[in-house]
Amino acid sequence: MPRRAGRHFLQIPGPTNVPDRVLRAIDSPTIDHRGPEFGELGKTVLAGMKRVFKSTQGEVVIYPASGTGAWEAALVNTLSPGDRVLMAETGHFATLWQKMAARLGLVVEFLGTDWRHGADPEAIGKRLRADAAKEIKALCVVHNETSTGVTSRISEVRKAIDACGHPALFMVDTISSLASVDYRHDEWGVDVTVAGSQKGLMLPPGLSFNCISAKALAAAKSARLPRSYWSWEEMIANGKSGYFPYTPATNLLYGLREALRMLAEEGLDNVFARHTRLAEACRRAVRALGLELLLEGGISELLSRAPLAVHQLEQRHGNQGDQEPECQVLAQAAPVGAGRTGWKAFGHLCQIRNEREMPKILCVVETVPDQERRRRHEANEPDLRGPHRCELLIQQRANA
Ligand SMILES: Cc1ncc(COP(=O)(O)O)c(C=O)c1O
Repeated sequence: MPRRAGRHFLQIPGPTNVPDRVLRAIDSPTIDHRGPEFGELGKTVLAGMKRVFKSTQGEVVIYPASGTGAWEAALVNTLSPGDRVLMAETGHFATLWQKMAARLGLVVEFLGTDWRHGADPEAIGKRLRADAAKEIKALCVVHNETSTGVTSRISEVRKAIDACGHPALFMVDTISSLASVDYRHDEWGVDVTVAGSQKGLMLPPGLSFNCISAKALAAAKSARLPRSYWSWEEMIANGKSGYFPYTPATNLLYGLREALRMLAEEGLDNVFARHTRLAEACRRAVRALGLELLLEGGISELLSRAPLAVHQLEQRHGNQGDQEPECQVLAQAAPVGAGRTGWKAFGHLCQIRNEREMPKILCVVETVPDQERRRRHEANEPDLRGPHRCELLIQQRANA
């Protein structure tokens, strides 16, 4: 391993940098998870998470698991084998959730999008209206599609469901939006919200969450998909006094308590405003560097306020051992998936807490197009920039 001087500066869409305050909180002795001190910790973080979900009615459960676990929990607690599920194909993560649902024995209808505009409330409404027999049991949407940087309009989707009076459960993945972009579990009538610790919540990976409506709890009573570890029943019963039915990730919960304090001190609205401001700064800088934004030409409200996807370096520039640490960090960003290599995402969530930190990321980005342009120039290859680029990638995906 080459010697790495200085602090690792993680600049991917998640996991994000963990603030020192959270790291210090995690670095405390593990306590007895059946003792009274733990019960207080459990109650505090469950109540704090309700505030972040903007839910007074919902029940929250916290799994010692990555976000994928909370996806599975949402499905297995509410649905039965052979149930029909409508999912919006917004990108790579929506595709993974769809694959999981199919593997669990659900019949999934995947409503296509161009990956640049998020879930289409109109198309969803049309499909639900056509379901006269009300066979669709659940609708699943990813709020912020980390792989494309597009945020879907959840309140509009809710209106579309209500407009046709469809009873489907509404499930929303907020893994890369919660505590970064405004989100309202109760007001938007969401039945199961899925979240993870490693993005806007400023924690390392390892915790995931469901926020559950009364309607979803009622559905759980008759749902027949097998579940044990993910079962809400015992989690909620134990959670009333702050405990877990099994060994919790105690030290991550210390970190969560501290992260919730930080969010409360800043105020959620101020956190959202900060991400909005930095996202706009980032987009302007990316355009000024001559790079194409995946969302270029999109409607402004649809642009993600969380991670951004930018036309980046080719794969072979990534993960090379001899690069500067920062370049490696950027190159490790999530591939956009399904034939869309060439686009790279970088994140400015979490500890990118002010304008002075943003240039650090942009300096790294700036080096990449220069390298790529020089390489193309020397190899006599055409410049790949331009509005046709995204269309080309969509075509590649279709042909894959
Ligand atoms: C939007 C979204 N959904 C789901 C996941 C999967 O979560 P995990 O990798 O924590 O299991 C991710 C991970 O980045 C994500 O960004």
